[in-house]
Amino acid sequence: AAHMGADLEKVLITEEEIHAKLDELAAMIAREYDGKDLLLVGVLKGAVMVMADLMRALPMTAPVDWMAVSSYGSGTKSSGVVRILKDLDTDITGRHVLIVEDIIDSGLTLSWIKANLESRNPASVEICTLLRKPEAAKVDVDVKWVGFDIPNEFVVGYGLDFADAYRGLRCVGTLAPHVYS
Ligand code: PRP
Ligand code: MN
Ligand code: MG
Repeated sequence: AAHMGADLEKVLITEEEIHAKLDELAAMIAREYDGKDLLLVGVLKGAVMVMADLMRALPMTAPVDWMAVSSYGSGTKSSGVVRILKDLDTDITGRHVLIVEDIIDSGLTLSWIKANLESRNPASVEICTLLRKPEAAKVDVDVKWVGFDIPNEFVVGYGLDFADAYRGLRCVGTLAPHVYS
């Protein structure tokens, strides 16, 4: 694999800014779910970094579960039709579910997942996303906690990939043009 840092064009959000924001969000989330049966649900693979840092910033012992989904059809995303590749291991009936995501782009993935989980009779379903691209929204998703609204640029790092690479970058940034050619 190529050297990650060499392919970065610019850093949008630094590692320090990400961690400070997740600490802030964790404090609000901790207050919201105090005394409640909270289940954290991460969406593979992008949410891995956010989950790892958010759960360590939370003072409670909340369990974690994971879903993996993929778009049907052409293979390009944003068809809005989602197929479950890996479902939750957990029965969420009556439980307070917090979906943890790296980014809301068109919003199609999360609006589908949220509706799917809501149909299982949980006590509540809310969303926490590190990033959101307001200009890319195709559907409105009701998101309770957002780390950063970012411009409609292709970003990688901190879980976000280009062709499954660059997820391990500690910051969020854009790639240099040579990467795409
Ligand atoms: C990315 C990202 C979100 C989703 C957002 O996942 O991690 O889950 O796309 O896009 P949307 O708002 O337009 O639906 P991706 O499908 O690339 O899978 P990955 O997490 O494994 O990278
Ligand atoms: Mn994802
Ligand atoms: Mg991806």
